[in-house]
This record gives sequence, structure tokens and C-alpha cells, in this order.
Amino acid sequence: METQLLASDPAGIARAAEILSAGGLVAFATETVYGLGADARNGEAVARVYAAKGRPSFNPLIVHVADLEMAQRYGAFDKQSLALAQEFWPGPLSIVVPLAPNHGLSSLVTAGLQTVALRVPAHSGASALLAQFDGPVAAPSANPSGRISPTTPEHVMTGLQGKIDAVLDGGTCIVGLESTIIGGAPLALLRQGGVPQEKIIQITGSLAQAGPDITSPGQLASHYAPRAALRLNAESKQKGELLLGFGPGLCDLNLSPTGDLAEAAANLFAHLHTLDAMNKPIAVTPIPDTGLGAAINDRLKRAAAPR
Ligand code: TXA
Ligand code: MG
Repeated sequence: METQLLASDPAGIARAAEILSAGGLVAFATETVYGLGADARNGEAVARVYAAKGRPSFNPLIVHVADLEMAQRYGAFDKQSLALAQEFWPGPLSIVVPLAPNHGLSSLVTAGLQTVALRVPAHSGASALLAQFDGPVAAPSANPSGRISPTTPEHVMTGLQGKIDAVLDGGTCIVGLESTIIGGAPLALLRQGGVPQEKIIQITGSLAQAGPDITSPGQLASHYAPRAALRLNAESKQKGELLLGFGPGLCDLNLSPTGDLAEAAANLFAHLHTLDAMNKPIAVTPIPDTGLGAAINDRLKRAAAPR
């Protein structure tokens, strides 16, 4: 299969929507990372997503929609989830809710669960595609399973060229971390991500931490692994290592020389991709654990986990 690179102009968007309607696979930019999209009602198309990624089939997928009204076709929102959707959508928050009656989604999307993770992305290309397609798009991050999430069209091509129909070029993802995932009753944090938990608690008053029986396999320790070994909280680099820095100081690549956590998040996966390609162990300087720093440290811990 030849993978087409489509521009995010009206012709490219129309072509991408056509491919989705025909059961094909289109990678598209969101503000978090690139997603690998398929029609969430079409079981065969969704199966191709699992195949292209080499993903274990128990992992449910996030369903992307154009707006809250469309989300309510597929999920049943209570007062609290509605308040969160109104506050944070479009944006980097995925909300797990019970399936709505007559939702029409393939059971492969939910991996057989009675709930669905829904998200309205804030990226003009993604919004245009979802509006034009006018249907639910299941999309995991557009990387081979177990590899670093892609934040540029080049990352997607490197991992999936020849395995998917097209990449809709939406430039570099500005958030650079996957969406925060919340769900359950009481409402719990299932995955740290682009919306810091402090901001969610401002709306909900509280947020439980998910227990060990978590149904969000994005929690698997080695989910975000580069090939190279990773050493965290390094004060300096040891012989043979590459140093990934944060804040002022000498290093091989810096997530944010000024110590800005949003900039660091946006650079995280791209910098890991770059260092990983040099085939040397990577050391990372300490990163504060507040705001977006919590999600950055979560990703780094998973990447450093033994495997
Ligand atoms: O930013 C993002 O969230 C990106 C972009 C493309 O939207 N997507 C993404 O998808 O990171 P993925 O497949 O890599 O991660 C989806 C996570 C998985 O950890 C999965 O277990 C969880 O969402 N998930 C999906 N449906 C769920 C459900 N019904 N209950 C609990 N967790 C769910
Ligand atoms: Mg992923």
C-alpha cells in the first residue's frame, strides 16, 4: 500500500473523509499527538487500526467527534461529565462515559466495555475532518504499538508508511502529550495528560486516583518506550549517554531552556524520537512534578521502565 501525504486544504480534507468512509485509515494531527483514524462504526476498519499498529486487541480506543452534541450520540453524559466537556472541549481531555442507546459503535472500539472514551480535539485540521466526515473516528496515537507517540507527519511516516492509506498533514502538535483521561464513578484520573488534574479538580471539587484494576491500559509501564535505555533525575551525563535537559544548563537537547513546562511537553516526544535515533542511552535532568510536569514525568517513568 502507498501512504499518501495529504495537505490540510479543502481537497485534502475531502479526500481524507472519503478514505474514512470507505473503511480506510487516515492519520491526522490533533493538538496532543497524531491519531490513526478509522470509522468507529466499521469493525473491519477498526481491526485494520489494531493490525497497522500491531496493538494488543484488549486496548480500547478513544472516539473523536466534532462537538459535544455529536459526542452525546455515542455516550451518556451525567451532570459532572457534561460540566467537564463544556469547560475543556475542544481540548486535550478524554471523558469515559457509559455507551448511549443505539450508539452504533463497533465493539472492537470499546474492546467489549460498556463505556466509551470520547474527545473533541482542538486542532483546525482535525475539526475540519470530523465535521466533513460527520461520524465518530476511533483513533489511537499513530505509532506502532509500544513506540513513542508521533507529533509530526514525519514521525507517522517513519512508523507506519506502507501500512495506512494517508497522513493528513497538520504540522507539529502543539500540546505534544496525549489527552488526560478521566472516567468512572466516583470520577477518577485514568491517565495524566494535556489537561493538568488541578484544573479538573477546580470544576469537580475532587478526583479519585484510579486503582490497580485500571481499565486504561495506557497505564502499562512500558507503553512509551524508546529503544534506548533511559535514566531519570540525572544531574549530569555519564560516559556514552546523551543528556535530555530541562531549564538552563549544558545538554544534548533541551525540552525547554527557560524551564517552561508547556514547551517541554510539546517537545517531549520529538526530542525522544531524535535521541532514540542516535542509539545511545539517554539521561534526563529532573523535571518539576507540578501542572503538566506530572504528565511529562509519568511518560518518562514509563519510557524508563524495565522491559
Ligand atoms: O491525545 C490522545 O488521547 C491521543 C489522540 C490521538 O487523541 N490518543 C491516544 O489514544 O492517546 P491511545 O489509544 O494511545 O490511548 C487511549 C487510551 C488507552 O489507554 C485506553 O485504554 C483508554 O484510552 N481508553 C479508551 N477507552 C476506554 C474506556 N472505555 N475505559 C477506560 N479507558 C479507555
Ligand atoms: Mg498511544
